[in-house]
Amino acid sequence: MAQRKRTAVLISGRGSNMNALISAALDPNYPAEIALVLSNRPDAAGLERAARFGIPTAVVDHKDFPGDREAFERQVDTVLKDHNIELVALAGFMRILTPFLVNAWTNRMINIHPALLPSFKGLATHERALEEGVKLHGATVHFVSAEMDDGPIIVQGAVPVLDGDTPDTLAARVLEVEHKIYPKALALVAAGKTKVTGARVTTRGDEEVAPALIWP
Ligand code: GRF
Repeated sequence: MAQRKRTAVLISGRGSNMNALISAALDPNYPAEIALVLSNRPDAAGLERAARFGIPTAVVDHKDFPGDREAFERQVDTVLKDHNIELVALAGFMRILTPFLVNAWTNRMINIHPALLPSFKGLATHERALEEGVKLHGATVHFVSAEMDDGPIIVQGAVPVLDGDTPDTLAARVLEVEHKIYPKALALVAAGKTKVTGARVTTRGDEEVAPALIWP
């Protein structure tokens, strides 16, 4: 098998998507290894969990770089390079990125967003999905580009919106699909099966990996 891609997961909080990626990467045939978990918050719950798996962790606290997002990102970039990282997976990393980090990792940095992009960019996606009355909601894994919650879409997972839903019940249903599509998307990227043409990602080489996942 080709060398597994050294992947960093960037978090700010509980890290359930991080967990899903770590679990997938326990399989030696998975094309990525989680080589670093980096948080901008020293108290992120995910750090402890990553350490329990024996994964190196790092904290780059954005509060140490007041008013200077790029200086913060330069430090993040330095830590990524120190760990010989090849791919970056943002998993609830709550920082708006500047062009510096985005350009440094073009087509090598992916993000998960809890909505079917390009609908509902930004925060409070489940509240807004309910307000708008959509019947299908879901999650998207995409390459990171200069615009927030934008960039070529790799995998999407859809869930139904049910009549009795609250933002919390809907969020829980979406989170379940997040945990399925993120490992799938990282596998596609790490195995070199994605091709980006403009806004479009096509996948090749493995008929069994459906690039779009509809659930249930
Ligand atoms: C997820 O809903 C993800 O889509 C969004 O932030 C949340 C992070 O949750 N970007 P977790 O830390 O992975 O549990």
